[in-house]
Amino acid sequence: MLYEVVIPAAGQGKRMKAGKNKLFIELSGIPIIIYTLRVFEADPHCQGIILVINPAEEAYFTELMDAYGMRKVKKLVAGGAERQQSVFNGLKHANEEFVLVHDGARPFIDQSLIHSLTEAASLHAGAIVAVPVKDTIKRVKERSVVETVERSSLWAVQTPQAFRVPILYKAHKQAEVDEFLGTDDASLLERMGEQVVIIEGDYDNIKITTQEDLYFAEAILHKQAKRKME
Ligand code: CTP
Ligand code: MG
Repeated sequence: MLYEVVIPAAGQGKRMKAGKNKLFIELSGIPIIIYTLRVFEADPHCQGIILVINPAEEAYFTELMDAYGMRKVKKLVAGGAERQQSVFNGLKHANEEFVLVHDGARPFIDQSLIHSLTEAASLHAGAIVAVPVKDTIKRVKERSVVETVERSSLWAVQTPQAFRVPILYKAHKQAEVDEFLGTDDASLLERMGEQVVIIEGDYDNIKITTQEDLYFAEAILHKQAKRKME
């Protein structure tokens, strides 16, 4: 199924403490954002990439797009103060029936998973990638345990998340009116009573957030390179 993808890349990477946008950090000599973009460049179903950036970084993004021959990035859109605003800004430029939202900071998404996700999105209001939670999770108040949450019903949610454009647009608009800030896009649909389904994803689809994620990322790259040689 054909789709466009909105890739929010306008963050500051504060938790990475690199003193720059973490998406410019190189893994094996290539910036993180390039890995992410390459997945969609290589997917024939992807009709275009809407890359949401900090306008102060536009020149550098443009330079990277040229240097690595990215052809599907049809628009560089200015981001907002929060990820949700960045996604909404990007969404306003979507033209296909279906849109994916995928974090620039998740370079290890796999193409077959994208296809399962878009198929699910055609049958429901939204579809998201998630993995079962491995840790025991407890609800805590003032350092005191309130309860242990039943783990079998807990999923750790990732991106991509796939939607019909008008539904996601309406959900973002409503969230803006209500001044509701969600931590992902699906939550904006959920609060409107829309059905969101889960596609079981991959633990390798990490979001690169803190310093230690960089060595997990190198290990995942190493695994991928080894697989290619087999
Ligand atoms: N993002 C964005 N606009 C924002 C904030 C985040 O486009 N105002 C993007 C980031 O660039 C990233 C994705 O949303 O690709 C997920 O956000 P996160 O991992 O939190 O990245 P940062 O916000 O950059 O990191 P931090 O929260 O540590 O500052
Ligand atoms: Mg952030």
